[in-house]
Amino acid sequence: MKDHYGRKINYMRLSITDLCNLRCVYCMPEEGVAKHAHVQNLSFEEMLDLVKAGVSLGIDKIRLTGGEPLVRKGVVELVREIGKIPGIKDLTMTTNGILLPKYAKELKKAGLQRVNISLDTFDPQKYHQITRWGQIEDVLAGIDAAREAGMHPIKINTVLINGFNDDEIETFVNFTKDHEVDVRFIELMPLGESSGFAENKYLSNDEVIKRMPALEPVIELDKSGPAEYYRLPGAKGKVGLINPISKHFCKLCNRIRVTADGKIKPCLHSDREIDIVALLKEGKTYEEILLQAIGEKPEQHHINENEKQLLRNMNEIGG
Ligand code: GTP
Ligand code: 5AD
Ligand code: SF4
Repeated sequence: MKDHYGRKINYMRLSITDLCNLRCVYCMPEEGVAKHAHVQNLSFEEMLDLVKAGVSLGIDKIRLTGGEPLVRKGVVELVREIGKIPGIKDLTMTTNGILLPKYAKELKKAGLQRVNISLDTFDPQKYHQITRWGQIEDVLAGIDAAREAGMHPIKINTVLINGFNDDEIETFVNFTKDHEVDVRFIELMPLGESSGFAENKYLSNDEVIKRMPALEPVIELDKSGPAEYYRLPGAKGKVGLINPISKHFCKLCNRIRVTADGKIKPCLHSDREIDIVALLKEGKTYEEILLQAIGEKPEQHHINENEKQLLRNMNEIGG
């Protein structure tokens, strides 16, 4: 399935809830999500039908996102059902890791191959501050649980925030020396809640290379994700740079996003959404709806030039 710009779309990011057990300051307001906002979540049946239609059109990579996907009841069952669909090569999840000690083994057994875990600092107090109440021991236990469950590779997502964690770049990079874990720095994006927060706190990922000149580029065979990879000589894990701001990767964009309330976003940085349930009511099939959404993918985003704040927060989109 190709879009108008010849890009092959094979990656579906499916947000299964906008709720979260944390409140990262760049992602969600402290009070969380308004109650009315999550009554119209897609049901698991609808999600499965959508995924099946996607697979019939060439989707072979599915990522479950949130909010925090592990707070949605029945998530293991959903993974099991998606895992049964023939044609999916990569079934993964992006999580804050807090509930992985509870779920990692079951998830792996149900067919989840790997997880990307968000961690912006190794300092317990700073972790508490950025997540508004999280305990770092829980995430570290989550990373261990994922490894013990046999998930591989494990990736840590670290949003680079000037004045907050830029002093930990070296610590994060050094973490890859002895751990079979990839650490990926993500440039802070001005989306919804984070638009105000991001002012003065954006730092280009060039800073990582400046501060860690020993990092060597790694040639990646799999270009299905947005990161460019590097490695410290002899390190067990890699260091990834995700540069949506300084070097956007729109040319390589291979994905569509589905929000928990059933809207397809052709691009992360646009408010344009395709309403699945409304179109189903008009008699469209899931395949037709997906093709319409892919047909609306823009050539590239314009967040650098665009002053307008996007309406949705990250917890509603899933990253
Ligand atoms: P892998 O398959 O493991 O490479 O995962 P991934 O990087 O595709 O997924 P993940 O959920 O870990 O995303 C990491 C970060 O990259 C998140 O902050 C996303 O918002 C950001 N990201 C992923 N896709 C896009 C995209 O299409 N555009 C932009 N601007 N950012 C993206
Ligand atoms: N900019 C960059 N990354 C963000 N994430 C959440 N909000 C933002 C933002 N404004 C990250 C989370 C998670 C991933 C899915 O997106 O930390 O790792
Ligand atoms: Fe929750 Fe992830 Fe948003 Fe943090 S970034 S509040 S963990 S959804």
